[in-house]
Amino acid sequence: MNPSAIIAGTMNWGVWGANLSTAEFAQTIECALASGVSTFDHADIYGGYSTEAAFGAGFEASGLDRESVQFISKCGIRYPVEGKENSVKHYDYSAGHIKQSVENSLRNLRTDYLDLYLLHRPSPLLDTKKAVIALEALRDEGKIKAWGVSNFTPSQLRLIATQRGPEWNQIECSLAHTAPLMDGTLDAHQTLGVGTMAWAPLGRLLGGKNQGVSTVLERLSVSYGVPPEVLLLAWLQKHPAGIVPVVGTTKPERYGFLVKSADVSMELEHWFELLEASRGHKVP
Ligand SMILES: NC(=O)c1ccc[n+]([C@@H]2O[C@H](COP(=O)([O-])OP(=O)(O)OC[C@H]3O[C@@H](n4cnc5c(N)ncnc54)[C@H](OP(=O)(O)O)[C@@H]3O)[C@@H](O)[C@H]2O)c1
Repeated sequence: MNPSAIIAGTMNWGVWGANLSTAEFAQTIECALASGVSTFDHADIYGGYSTEAAFGAGFEASGLDRESVQFISKCGIRYPVEGKENSVKHYDYSAGHIKQSVENSLRNLRTDYLDLYLLHRPSPLLDTKKAVIALEALRDEGKIKAWGVSNFTPSQLRLIATQRGPEWNQIECSLAHTAPLMDGTLDAHQTLGVGTMAWAPLGRLLGGKNQGVSTVLERLSVSYGVPPEVLLLAWLQKHPAGIVPVVGTTKPERYGFLVKSADVSMELEHWFELLEASRGHKVP
């Protein structure tokens, strides 16, 4: 799947956050697309298993062409919530659950196919052979166009790649969470040809909670002529792994700014200055 330069995360569009109405879902989708954000990130669990359906209604109300957008969804996390029979939070990557979850997401999103389907969290009990067979069968049926994983470590990526390489790994990565740059995750992505999507790309660094980062961001903001959030995305996008940020805003007017990050070419020393401010020490 070729996502837009920035992906719109929908986790907080529904009852977990802004609780948008159907008309507001439609307006947010339209605004994202008008700004060049055509890829929408979902998971079955968002909103206690309710946000995909709310988005599906909004997308239908928008009247937009399905081919003009890309839908990502995820499966595997099961937890106790009204209407579900789960007694304990757990991960389920049985073939039956993967297939049933895809059917649910297709129905909720009111679509015939998903552009990308992700295994949401690695499980100690993941049988990679069985899971990959199930995913490949769904791809052969045309219900998913591609599949990948989320929150997988380098060793978990290598394990599943013994069956077939995932197309993407969606991980937490930001200036506030730099572990994947240092622990081999992004190296593994490049070695195995796995694309990188970064969730929580702003790292909750806006609003001055990290004074060191805020001071540098404010200065660079003036010299680059873009807001701090754009620099936080541009910082990720400078990495050679080709990181695609999954932004979580619920305010449609923000997309027009956020997409500007792809046009920012951050200078090498500014990149390391931000890294140093975030970690509180120089590189060795
Ligand atoms: N694969 C996984 O395990 C996993 C886990 C978590 C999340 N995700 C995905 O990643 C997405 C993004 O996560 P996230 O919400 O933590 O990402 P984020 O983009 O780093 O953070 C978004 C938050 O920043 C706030 N914000 C404040 N000022 C902002 C500004 N100027 N511009 C943009 N945002 C601003 C937003 O509030 P407003 O709404 O007021 O703009 C929102 O609460 C989720 O929606 C979900 O799709 C995946």
